[in-house]
Amino acid sequence: MKSFYLTTPIYYVNDAPHIGHAYTTVAGDVLTRWHRQRGESVWFLTGTDEHGQKVMRTAEQNGVAPQAWADKLVEDAWKPNWHALNIANDDFIRTTEPRHMDRVQKFLTSLKDKGFIYQGDFEGPYCVGCEEFKLPGDLLEGNLCPTHSKPVENVKETNWFFKLSEFTDRLLAHYKNNPDACQPESARNEVVAFLEGGVRDLSISRSTFDWGVPVPWDTDQVVYVWFDALLNYATAVGLTDDPESEGGKKFAQTWPADVHLVGKDILRFHAVIWPAMLMAAGLEVPQKVFAHGWLLVGGEKMSKSKLTGIAPSQITDHFGVDAFRYYFLRAIPFGSDGSFSWEDMSARYTSELANDFGNLASRLAAMVEKYCGGLLPAVARDAELSAALEETVAKADAAMQVLDFQGGINAIMDYCKMVNGYVTIKEPWILAKDPANQQALEDVLYNTAESLRALAVLLHPVMPATTEILWESLGAKATLGEIAAQRIDAVATWGQLPQGANVTKTPVLFPRLEVKE
Ligand code: MSP
Repeated sequence: MKSFYLTTPIYYVNDAPHIGHAYTTVAGDVLTRWHRQRGESVWFLTGTDEHGQKVMRTAEQNGVAPQAWADKLVEDAWKPNWHALNIANDDFIRTTEPRHMDRVQKFLTSLKDKGFIYQGDFEGPYCVGCEEFKLPGDLLEGNLCPTHSKPVENVKETNWFFKLSEFTDRLLAHYKNNPDACQPESARNEVVAFLEGGVRDLSISRSTFDWGVPVPWDTDQVVYVWFDALLNYATAVGLTDDPESEGGKKFAQTWPADVHLVGKDILRFHAVIWPAMLMAAGLEVPQKVFAHGWLLVGGEKMSKSKLTGIAPSQITDHFGVDAFRYYFLRAIPFGSDGSFSWEDMSARYTSELANDFGNLASRLAAMVEKYCGGLLPAVARDAELSAALEETVAKADAAMQVLDFQGGINAIMDYCKMVNGYVTIKEPWILAKDPANQQALEDVLYNTAESLRALAVLLHPVMPATTEILWESLGAKATLGEIAAQRIDAVATWGQLPQGANVTKTPVLFPRLEVKE
């Protein structure tokens, strides 16, 4: 079976991660966890981009060799950061690994053999921050990069070129025939307009420094960092390996990638250069490139170079990891820019997570303990709750399929609100006062527990740790098995929690926030 294959950008190791990087990776993690719970085979790749002048110069400024610098950042900053955020990637690729570098060289040689690489003279402005050749018309005040507000450098070299311009018409036809291949629509429109404006061949090697993959037939040159980096998506799963080998089999099982998640800053690399490279090699192009928006600070893209980067731990120390994972996907439509605000996050934490979700769970556990000795009463079925759950699952699944995380989470949280409304109306604490209402009381408790079972499963991709606690407290782990093994397509089947399941009080799922000084 072909795997659902999702990638994040590979991040530069010039600095430690900030919440902009975490935004992309968490989105990828949520989506891949969702697909795993749909019963699909999934492959989720992230990693680091370690070559090029940007990383090389940072290492130099710190008085360390680039490899030692990259090793340190990967081990001390990037990997621990993803671990702390509960990211369940299947692989982590570093562009300095031999498995990557060897395959880049093989790929490049094959493109040269096919006649897509030629030698030429290059002269033009280059921004090291973007690692990108610019057109004079792109610059502000004649020589400033519009992204970094820093002067560009003039590069004049003889190097190797890729015949990118030959692919303009095929790329345009591709996006016209496959609107899904670049999303959201605004991103596709941008790419199409860019292609319609005409595309030049691309210089894909550099000779003035040596921190990169050597060009196999001209080792005085290293491969342009973006050409090297884009290939990670394919080298990590066995590009160029013999079809009968392990790598070749992995490639057949994963390629083409289903989703490349990227920030809109790097859309053109992914939607123009990358598919052209694949077309040149006779390989399938990715099913979808999705460009999400930026987290803004003071109206500008959050970035380390502008000293506006917020470390994920600054937020998770206060709100916890699951609230972090929830908040950005819930608050910002995926594809649009959004500003981070401490106040907004506190407000949503309290109303949606602590009150709507966390309190429901703790109230249920307290009532089952008090009124039923901690054992779940017999199976009951509230027709309205059960029908609403079916609708919720259909809506959430449809939204997740198109990377509408906000729509998906909203559908689930609306159901949570509905269950709260159900408990409020039924007033089990009043029913409990009269033994004649015992049956009604037990029905309410069972229906609430069963709704929480579904909420735990549906929110598991977003908040894996908290839902796991809830799962155990519902007695679900002991009776239904691991939460991660629960299928989205079965979650709406009512009556899964068995009578007698042992419901226990949870530690508070979302504790009251400490007042910030
Ligand atoms: N190394 C390249 C990508 C190569 S992929 C073949 C690169 N790295 S990066 O470290 O600069 O990370 C870029 C990605 O981080 C963006 O595409 C985006 O996914 C994420 N973000 C970085 N800053 C961001 C925001 N302020 N807001 C949202 N996402 C941001 O570019």
